Amino acid sequence: MKTMLELIQRCPEFVSGYREYCREMYAKGVTYFRPTPPETIDEGWFQRTKPWYDQREQGLVPGVARSYHYWAVDKDRFIGEFQCRTDFTEKVLNDIGSIGYAVRPSEWGKGYGTEILRHGLAIAKSLSMEKALLTVNEENKPSIHIIEKRGGILSDTIDAYNEVEGDHLLRRYWITL
Ligand SMILES: CC(C)(COP(=O)(O)OP(=O)(O)OC[C@H]1O[C@@H](n2cnc3c(N)ncnc32)[C@H](O)[C@@H]1OP(=O)(O)O)[C@@H](O)C(=O)NCCC(=O)NCCS
Repeated sequence: MKTMLELIQRCPEFVSGYREYCREMYAKGVTYFRPTPPETIDEGWFQRTKPWYDQREQGLVPGVARSYHYWAVDKDRFIGEFQCRTDFTEKVLNDIGSIGYAVRPSEWGKGYGTEILRHGLAIAKSLSMEKALLTVNEENKPSIHIIEKRGGILSDTIDAYNEVEGDHLLRRYWITL
């Protein structure tokens, strides 16, 4: 499929699209990626949360990896999100990885996940990263497929736990940028 996918800075124009994305993620039960509870995304939400995102992007939160957040859009349609963490903290190495990406469920299987990762890895490189760690639940076959398609080299598989997924196996892949 030919997409016009772009990764853009978070902006007020796409807040309602982001809310729809979060609704779809909750309806599908995909909460391990931590979408925002949709009922909290009201008129003041963007300005209220901006300092939180700005501080992370500037690396101002002690002990928390510097992180950059983007929204993925195709023309005026909100598609998904992309996050890049440029520090290799213990949490990045053993849990969340350098990269996070997600597509709204109504758009799964159309090539958007592959495209978000492609654009996102270019962003990671532009942020002076030489390699990125992608961590993925052993059960997440579509993401494993995409990561391997993008040249991910399996480093190992470790035991992991979080409140949403419980005990699970986590694959760790490195991608050279
Ligand atoms: C993972 C995710 C981003 C994929 O998005 P998507 O837009 O559906 O991805 P694409 O359409 O680009 O690609 C899906 C690929 O998975 C493949 N796939 C689907 N189900 C599969 C399965 N059970 N086993 C192996 N491959 C599978 C598809 O064939 C396709 O590959 P192809 O294009 O080479 O044929 C999306 O499911 C998502 O947002 N999930 C929730 C968040 C998440 O898991 N993020 C990744 C965290 S590591």
